[in-house]
Amino acid sequence: MRHDLCASSDIPQGKSKAIQAGDTKLVVYHLSDGFYATQARCTHMFASLGKGKIIEDKCVQCPLHRARFDIRTGEVSEWANFPPGVQLLNVVRGEKALQTWPVSEEDGRLFVEL
Ligand code: FES
Repeated sequence: MRHDLCASSDIPQGKSKAIQAGDTKLVVYHLSDGFYATQARCTHMFASLGKGKIIEDKCVQCPLHRARFDIRTGEVSEWANFPPGVQLLNVVRGEKALQTWPVSEEDGRLFVEL
């Protein structure tokens, strides 16, 4: 199902925004080559990536334990590493990619197909 997310001007380049689309909460990112969407919760321990930091026009860094995910693919580029010792949880919270969805832009609005 197609969802109208927001005006593209609502998300300046280098920024992101958490948006509810039907039953799914997403984070939409504006990178140098366009808009991307990932699931809103970190796959490590479910912190909100809407409060995450965009690193080098490529990754989102989780605000809780600093896992980094490639925004374009959802792949893990660095797993949880903060505070020291959090890696002990890896036995039960192993690396897991984010779900991603393509975002399209039409007439100044952003859409996602879920
Ligand atoms: S909740 Fe995101 S890295 Fe732990």
